[in-house]
Amino acid sequence: MAHIVVTGGAGFIGSHCCVELLKKGEQVTVLDNFCNSSPEALDAIEKITGVRPALAELDLCDEEKVNAFFAANTVDAVVHFAGLKAVGESCRMPLAYYHNNLTGTLNLLRAMAANGCKTIVFSSSATVYGMHNNAPFTEDMPTSATNPYGWTKQMIEQMLMDTVAADAAWSVVALRYFNPIGAHPSGLIGENPNGIPNNLVPYVARVAEGTLERLSVYGDDYDTPDGTGVRDYIHVVDLAKGHLCALDYAAAHKGFEAINLGTGNGASVMDVLHAYEQACGKTLPYVIAPRRPGDIATSFAAPQKAKELLHWEAQSDLLTMCRDSWNYMCRRQQNG
Ligand code: NAD
Ligand code: UD1
Repeated sequence: MAHIVVTGGAGFIGSHCCVELLKKGEQVTVLDNFCNSSPEALDAIEKITGVRPALAELDLCDEEKVNAFFAANTVDAVVHFAGLKAVGESCRMPLAYYHNNLTGTLNLLRAMAANGCKTIVFSSSATVYGMHNNAPFTEDMPTSATNPYGWTKQMIEQMLMDTVAADAAWSVVALRYFNPIGAHPSGLIGENPNGIPNNLVPYVARVAEGTLERLSVYGDDYDTPDGTGVRDYIHVVDLAKGHLCALDYAAAHKGFEAINLGTGNGASVMDVLHAYEQACGKTLPYVIAPRRPGDIATSFAAPQKAKELLHWEAQSDLLTMCRDSWNYMCRRQQNG
C-alpha cells in the first residue's frame, strides 16, 4: 500500500481520483482548503468506497503548514489537483490566480523536496496548446497561453521541468486534460459549480434541470462540420483512472513527461446538446450567440502517448458521460 497525497482531493476531479485510489487499496490523504469544494465530498467518497480518506485541511499557500505536513508524514507520491481554474475569473483576478496556483505549487514542491518525496502527478490542461496549433494536439507541440489561468499551467510545467533538470531523482508526469465531464455512476460525486456555469456541460445540465432557460451556443460559423466548437470530452472516471496509470509510470521512471488525457475524438456543441437531450429525455432550448472571445474552433487530443507510456485509454462515449451527469443532477435534486 502506498501513501498518496491528493491535493484538491475534495474537488471535482480529485474526488473521483480518490475513489479509484481507495478502490485500489492505497492509503489516501486529501489536502484541501475547501475554497471550491466541501467536506461533504469526503462523505461521498466514503459512501462509495467504504473507506474515508484522511484529511489535512490546509491552504497550500501556507508554507509553514505545508512543510509541517510533509515533515510529519511519509508520503510516496503526490497527485496535485489543487488550484483555481476559471478562465474568466483569472482575467479579472490575475494576481489571485498567480498567487494561489504558483505559490501553492512552489510550497508543495519545496516541502516535498525537503522531505524526500520526489514523485508527483500534476493536473495540467490542453489550454497550454494555445490558439496556434492544429488538432490533434501532440505533446511535442509548442505551448503557450491566452489567459492567466493558462499561464499558471504553462509556468508550473516549466517549474517542474526545471526541477527535474536540476535533480534527476524526481519523477514527474504533467497530465494535460482535455474536457472532463460526467460524474461517478453512483451519482454521489460530480461537478457542481457555484453560480452560473461557464463550461458547456454544467450549463446544459442546468437547462435540463430547468434552473436555466436556454443554452447560448457560442458561434455557429466555425470551420467545423456543423459550425459549432469541437472539443474532446472525456469521462471524469476515465480521467481519474489515468492518474493511477500515471502514478505507476512515475514509480518506475525518473524524469519529466507531459501526457495528454483525452479520447482523441471531437464532439461539437450541438453533438453534446443532442446527447444530453437523449440522456435526460427532454428537448433542450438553445439560441445561437456570438463567439466567446478566446475560444478556438477545434481541440482534441492525440491520445497515443498515453496509450504507449501509461497503457491507458478512455473507455466511455459521450452518451454515457451525459447519462452520468444527468444521474448526478437528479440525485442532487432528490437530496435537496
Ligand atoms: P475543483 O475546483 O473542483 O477542485 C480543485 C480543488 O482544489 C478544490 O477542492 C479546492 O478547494 C482546492 N484548492 C484550490 N486552491 C487550493 C489551495 N491553495 N490549497 C488547498 N486546496 C486548494 O477543480 P477540478 O475541476 O477538480 O480541477 C482540478 C485540477 O485540474 C485543477 O488544477 C484544474 O486547473 C485542472 N484542470 C481542470 C479541468 C476541468 O475542466 N475541470 C481541465 C483541465 C485542468
Ligand atoms: C474551457 C477553458 C479552458 C479549460 C477548459 C476546462 C475557456 C476559454 N477555456 O475550455 O481553458 O481548460 O474549459 O474544461 O474558458 N460553449 C457554448 N455555450 C456555453 C459554454 C460553452 O456554446 O454556455 C461552447 C464553447 O464555445 C466551446 C465548447 O462549448 O466550443 C466547450 O466550452 P467549455 O466547456 O467552456 O470548454 P473549453 O472552452 O474547451
